[in-house]
Amino acid sequence: MRCIFLLSGENFDLAREEVLALAGTEDYWMFENVLILDADFRFERLAMARKVYQYLFECDYKDLKRKMEGFDWRKVYERNFSMRIINLSHVKLHEKEAEFAKYVWEKVKEPRVDLEHARTKIEIIVTEEKVFVGKVLKEIHHEFHKRRPSVRPEQHPTTIDPKLARACVNLTGIPVGKVLVDPFCGSGGILIEAGLMRFNTAGYDISDKMLLKCERNLDFYKIKRFRLEKRDATHLSGLVDYVVTDLPYGKGSKVTDSLDNLYSDFLKTLWKILRYKAVLIFPSTVDHKKMLNKTDFVVEHEFNVYVHKSLSRNIVLLSRPE
Ligand SMILES: C[S@@+](CC[C@H](N)C(=O)[O-])C[C@H]1O[C@@H](n2cnc3c(N)ncnc32)[C@H](O)[C@@H]1O
Repeated sequence: MRCIFLLSGENFDLAREEVLALAGTEDYWMFENVLILDADFRFERLAMARKVYQYLFECDYKDLKRKMEGFDWRKVYERNFSMRIINLSHVKLHEKEAEFAKYVWEKVKEPRVDLEHARTKIEIIVTEEKVFVGKVLKEIHHEFHKRRPSVRPEQHPTTIDPKLARACVNLTGIPVGKVLVDPFCGSGGILIEAGLMRFNTAGYDISDKMLLKCERNLDFYKIKRFRLEKRDATHLSGLVDYVVTDLPYGKGSKVTDSLDNLYSDFLKTLWKILRYKAVLIFPSTVDHKKMLNKTDFVVEHEFNVYVHKSLSRNIVLLSRPE
């Protein structure tokens, strides 16, 4: 089905790629934070989209009334309806929602309005360039603030927030039934989100203390399908499906004093064990491009995410060459 995704505002590139990874397509068009593509997956997985619509039509604002009048609302109408305008443009709109609702009212049999809980929620999304009209399929509410790191029983100073962790899991495009591995799992920020999405996970860390913390955090969220092991991420063997990991920031690496060596050893190991895709989160203090250039991985995408004045993160999606 052709869908409209209303993306949340922190990082449009990351938000777009999260949707594309799950939809398994590169075919899309985008206007500001409005993304349009053919998609069919469980939309509630998404971290960085606020709403998903069935695409009905698009037009210039001046043609909107004519298009609303011409559209066959019987095709999408169920039980009752509401009409809402989402104005993302800087232009003040003079028309009221009721003026557009009348086109639906006039076309369907036994029309009923329900502004609170309509079965047919029609929304008119106005961007600077175009207007998109959609029927709401999914409103995505994750309540990430209730899962913020500070409410976990165990803390880690560099853990990533749950929204970003979930977006990184989704960036791999991991389908149901595959296993996600975090080889530097720390207190489990990534494993929590992957676990809540019901993936089987494995977490490794070189520190017993961190593994205990991780276990306590996963138990806190009643996550069951995980395996934690004390392992050195630079010496892993066997194959893993998908990897998502937040690399060490310098402290706590017991393998070597040099972070560069740790990273390059890990990349060599990853090359041997990775079956599909990996998302690596590098602190901006590290020259990740230089390191990745020495590998044969394909960098499919990279995103810079602001943390605070002196730190940002570079998130890199890697795969093997075809
Ligand atoms: C940046 S933290 C991970 C943070 C994690 N995402 C969280 O939510 O807490 C990196 C972790 O890597 C672990 N570590 C460092 N060197 C390691 C190695 N060679 N093998 C496995 N784990 C290692 C550290 O103990 C630390 O817990």
